[in-house]
Amino acid sequence: MDRNLALEFVRVTEAAAIAAARWVGRGEKNKADGAAVDEMRKRFNQIYFSGTVVIGEGEKDEAPELYNGEHVGKAKTPLMDLAIDPLECTDSVAHGRYNALTVIAAGASGSLLHAPDTYMDKLATGPEAAKVIDLDDSITNNIKKTAKAIGKDVREITIMMLDRERNYSIMNEARSIGAKVRLISDGDVAAAVATCLPESGVDLLMGSGGSTEGVLSAVALKIFGGEILCRFKPKKETDIAKIKSMGIKNLKKIFSASDLAKGNQLTFTATGVIDGPFLQGVIFRKNRTITHSIVMRAQSKTIRYITTHHHLHQTNKYYETT
Ligand code: FBP
Repeated sequence: MDRNLALEFVRVTEAAAIAAARWVGRGEKNKADGAAVDEMRKRFNQIYFSGTVVIGEGEKDEAPELYNGEHVGKAKTPLMDLAIDPLECTDSVAHGRYNALTVIAAGASGSLLHAPDTYMDKLATGPEAAKVIDLDDSITNNIKKTAKAIGKDVREITIMMLDRERNYSIMNEARSIGAKVRLISDGDVAAAVATCLPESGVDLLMGSGGSTEGVLSAVALKIFGGEILCRFKPKKETDIAKIKSMGIKNLKKIFSASDLAKGNQLTFTATGVIDGPFLQGVIFRKNRTITHSIVMRAQSKTIRYITTHHHLHQTNKYYETT
């Protein structure tokens, strides 16, 4: 993959994050999402590449922009597949909560699993315990094996999971052996990435969350050398047919990060909209707007943290779109 392209994508996530951040706390999740989607699409179309959205805002008939299958970019090459979430955590933005991001994962054509929008059971951790986790093993064993691999006592292990009733049995089992559970209202992409960053204090992501978020997370975890294991957990009956139509016959198949994101032409770019476990959100100042991003490339395994100060006359353009 073109090295500059990875850095071009940060302009896209920064612009989308600024547009979404204008809507923090206004109770308008659709407007926040719409602002991020418009800005992301506009910015993609200023870049010399040919991107196909494989995970986007949904099917063509339900999403006018950045729908699955849409082509973006202003050149015929290089060809890239894109998995995007212009605004991960729309509710958090509407209610001014924690953990919102704008995310682009990119790879060579055919490298990213075209996951339908349903749930997956997920188990993720950073490099130290990447080889010991097993989605078929019990919650207790996974926590104990992770603690041993990291060199911590079980009582020092922190597990992040979405605060959903469907995850409470996992929460109860983890607590019963002394582990700490941090429940989050939304945002399991940030939670998965946080497992690779010792300073986040998060050792494991457990529980079910969005399947498209599973693919986005896999790109980042693969680059970090961590692991995410996922298994489809259909939300409704009709999801089963969608999963099977992708050629996945065995619904119990466990996907690793390398199954979800193949090869090494991968990049992961994210900008914080609201503070989360690994990125600060957008900060609006008198004459400038400050964004915080991460840019990662699989080929070199480079991880860049980018803090950008956008001058006021630039960020005013984002007002016009909101
Ligand atoms: P959205 O921004 O698309 O609402 O996603 C937020 C999120 O919390 C994801 O991080 C998570 O994977 C998914 O929703 C969980 O879905 P649900 O809210 O249905 O449990």
